[in-house]
Amino acid sequence: MLDNTVSSKQAAEAKPPMRIAVLVSGGGTNLQAILDEVASGGITDVTIAVVISNNADAYALSRAKNAGVEALCIAPKAFADREAYNEALLGALQERKIELVVLAGFLVVIPPQVVAAYPNRIVNIHPSLIPSFCGKGYYGLKVHEAALSRGVKVTGATVHFVDEGTDTGPIILQKAVAVQTGDTPEILQRRVMEEAEWKLLPRAINLIAHGAVEVTDGCVRIIET
Ligand code: GRF
Repeated sequence: MLDNTVSSKQAAEAKPPMRIAVLVSGGGTNLQAILDEVASGGITDVTIAVVISNNADAYALSRAKNAGVEALCIAPKAFADREAYNEALLGALQERKIELVVLAGFLVVIPPQVVAAYPNRIVNIHPSLIPSFCGKGYYGLKVHEAALSRGVKVTGATVHFVDEGTDTGPIILQKAVAVQTGDTPEILQRRVMEEAEWKLLPRAINLIAHGAVEVTDGCVRIIET
């Protein structure tokens, strides 16, 4: 009797490409890392269906257009109130049958209805080793300023699932980066991006697309293939 059981990994691979939305607010270097990995085959079985920014001037939107990906600006200030923005953002994701939401330097609080609609299907890249230097007020250069003023010798980046808190969801991947003498926040940010963020986020997306990420009691297990 042929064994006709299909593992979740095989099932994941048999499915059509996973549709992802990338949410951005700024320069989009993390988005570019994802686009490059899809183009080079470092990420497979994924379609970047849309890039959404709250900021019409975000260079990340130009990166999306250059790659032939739909670039959408949904700005909170264009709506009567935050609830209307929240509903519009959720609607844009659902209309496009998004299966994974990727936050790549996205600076708007994720609406609770979006978190509820995508349990363990929203990932964020944070530029520190969570639980250090994270939570409310820790974003962008502020994270690296705090790391330098604390005098840590090692920092890094974390990819985690997004829950209703701020930087509190299950940790998927982390990578350490050495702090060097003479580092400024800008120098350290660049090193963390180059050595950690731009590697971790594409890898996490690829693992999720291939059904290799399991969450049990708030902790992630990577099914190494
Ligand atoms: C950077 O501070 C990065 O560390 C964090 O988001 C910010 C913008 O990144 N993840 P990007 O260049 O827009 O991807």
